[in-house]
Amino acid sequence: MQTSVAIIGAGPAGLLLGHILGQAGIPFVILERSSREHVLSRIRAGVLEQGSVDVVASLGLDANLRERGLEHGGIHLQYEGKRRHVDFRELVGRTVTVYGQQALVTDLLAEHERLGSAIVFDASDVSPRGIDGADPVVGYSKDGIRHELHSDFVVGADGYHGICRPSFPSGSLETYERSYPFAWLGILADVAPSTDDLIYALHPDGFAMHSMRSRRVSRLYLQVNPGASIDDWSDERIWDGLQTRLGVDGWTLEQGPITEKSITPMRSFVTSTLASGRLFLVGDAGHIVPPTGAKGLNSAIADVALLGRALLEQRAGDDAPLASYSDRALARQWQVQHFSQWMTEMLHVHHEVPDAAARAFRYRSQVGQLEYVTGSQHAMASLAEQYAGLPF
Ligand code: FAD
Ligand code: DHB
Repeated sequence: MQTSVAIIGAGPAGLLLGHILGQAGIPFVILERSSREHVLSRIRAGVLEQGSVDVVASLGLDANLRERGLEHGGIHLQYEGKRRHVDFRELVGRTVTVYGQQALVTDLLAEHERLGSAIVFDASDVSPRGIDGADPVVGYSKDGIRHELHSDFVVGADGYHGICRPSFPSGSLETYERSYPFAWLGILADVAPSTDDLIYALHPDGFAMHSMRSRRVSRLYLQVNPGASIDDWSDERIWDGLQTRLGVDGWTLEQGPITEKSITPMRSFVTSTLASGRLFLVGDAGHIVPPTGAKGLNSAIADVALLGRALLEQRAGDDAPLASYSDRALARQWQVQHFSQWMTEMLHVHHEVPDAAARAFRYRSQVGQLEYVTGSQHAMASLAEQYAGLPF
C-alpha cells in the first residue's frame, strides 16, 4: 500500500493531523494499535488553550466544542484557606475552554468516519523502517496478515510508550527527564461543579484540584504517593481528602457518585530531537509534562499545527519549515516544560523529605510564592499568559 503520510497512533495528535492533511488533499493512513472502543474510552486531559480551540475551529471541527465546552476566564489559586482568582481575561485578554480529551477524540474520529478516512485499528507489531531513506516503510499486522505501508513521511503520534521514538537510529537521540515524588489520583463524579473556575490548591496534606467536564459532571484530583494503589482509596477517603484540601470558610464541596477513578504518575520528559530523516514525532511521543499546567494535550495540538503546516508547505515546494519543525516545536516545548514544572513545584507537598524542618521551610516558601504570585499583577499576568497558551 502507498500513501503520502503514514501516521502512527490515533490519539488526539494523530487524528487531528489527519484532518489537517485531509483538508489539504494530502493522502494519509492512520495505524492504531488499540481498538476503536479503547481509543474512545480513555479519560485524560480537560483544558484547551485558546490557540488549541482556534486550531480545531480553523478545521471546522468545533461544533460540539462550541456547544458543550465551558469557557473559563481564569483560575483560582488556593493556599492557607485563601482562594485567590487569577483573571486571564483582564490580565492577558485570553481564555481557556474545558472540554474533555475524550470528547475531542470522539469528535475527530466521528468526522474521520463520516469522511471515510483510512484508519486501521487493532494494528499490531507496527514497525517503521528505512526512515532515513527516500522510501520509508511501516510494517504492521492486522487479523494475522502482515502489511507494508510505503509513504513519503512517517509521523510518530504514538504517545510516550510508542514505537517511533525507539525507531530513531541508535545514538541519534538524547532524552532529558525527571520524575516527581507524587502522583495524581483523578476522579469523575456525577455532581454539578462546586466552583465557577478551576481551583488549584496547596494544602499541608498535599495538592488538590477541582475541575469539571460539564454542568453536571465534576473532575477532581488529589496528590497521592507515587506508589499508591487505587484500592487504598475508598470513595469516602477520596471525598474526605478533597473536602479537607479544597475547603475554605463558607464554601462546600458537593459530592456525588464517583464513576471513574485512576492514578497517574508524574513525569517531565523531552527528546533532543523530534525528527530523523522522514520520521517526525508529535505530542507525547516526544515529550511529557506533569499535568499541573494542563499542557499535555495542548502541546500535542501545538506540535500538530506546526508539523501540519510544514508538511503542506513542503508539498508546495518549500522544504525549510519541515527542516526546522523539530527546533521550533522544541523551543516552545521547553518553555511549556518550565511552566509545568513551576506550577507543579509551587502546588505540591514534598512529604518524602525526611527532615521535618526542611519540609516546613519548603512549604512556607511555597506559601510565600503563592502570596507573591496572587498579589503581583506582573506575576499573575505571566501565569495567565502561559496557562492560556504561548503562541505557535
Ligand atoms: P496519546 O493520547 O497517548 O495517543 C497515542 C496513540 O498511539 C494511542 O492511541 C496509542 O494506543 C497509540 N499507539 C501507541 N503505541 C503504538 C504503536 N506501537 N502502534 C500504533 N499505535 C500506537 N494531560 C493534561 O494536560 N491533563 C491531564 O489531566 C492529563 N491526564 C492524563 C492522564 C493519563 C492516564 C495520561 C496517560 C495522560 C494524561 N495527560 C493529561 C496527557 C494527555 O492526555 C496527553 O498529552 C495526550 O493524550 C497526548 O496525545 P497524543 O496523541 O500525543 O498521545
Ligand atoms: C484538568 C487536568 C489538568 O491537568 C489540569 O491542569 C486542569 C484540568 C482536567 O482534567 O480537567
